[in-house]
Amino acid sequence: MQRIAVVPGSFDPVTKGHLDVIERAAGLYDELHVVVVHNPDKSALLPIAQRVALIERAVIDAGIQGRVVVASWSMGLLVDYCTDVGASVLVKGVRSQVDVAYETPMAIVNRHLAGVETVFLLPDPQHALVSSSLVRQVSALGGDVSPYVPPVVADFLATAMTP
Ligand code: PNS
Repeated sequence: MQRIAVVPGSFDPVTKGHLDVIERAAGLYDELHVVVVHNPDKSALLPIAQRVALIERAVIDAGIQGRVVVASWSMGLLVDYCTDVGASVLVKGVRSQVDVAYETPMAIVNRHLAGVETVFLLPDPQHALVSSSLVRQVSALGGDVSPYVPPVVADFLATAMTP
């Protein structure tokens, strides 16, 4: 039986921390779906299609495109996407107790809704302080985000976001 997992998130934009979790998860499952989901609690920098394109490029650059599908989902519950593609596991990166507290209720609800389990992976400590919101802020103020994001994202932000 194929073991299929989903890594969901806003990915606005994808960071080196996200990519670290994606690479680890790709090594654990037969097929991994990285799914960009609109989070209404966050104000967006990039359109969903742009976030998908940047993840696709970063996944190719990391050499893991063979087992990774990049998609977006705006049709309702995330677990419905999981059911559609036959995934039984969600994978989330947790950097701290704050992340665990944020993720735990979602994990329990997703298990109640559809029996989809959530697996928490610990990113490499060097990525522990990286977040998309920090990247958005540094980028908006003209700072160098290359330590925090894959090269394709750093290049994109440096060109597309320059006023
Ligand atoms: O990167 P983020 O913003 O922390 O990701 C949060 C996300 C998009 C994974 C979360 O908001 C989510 O799962 N949204 C899908 C809507 C849904 O299924 N909600 C009910 C169960 S939590």
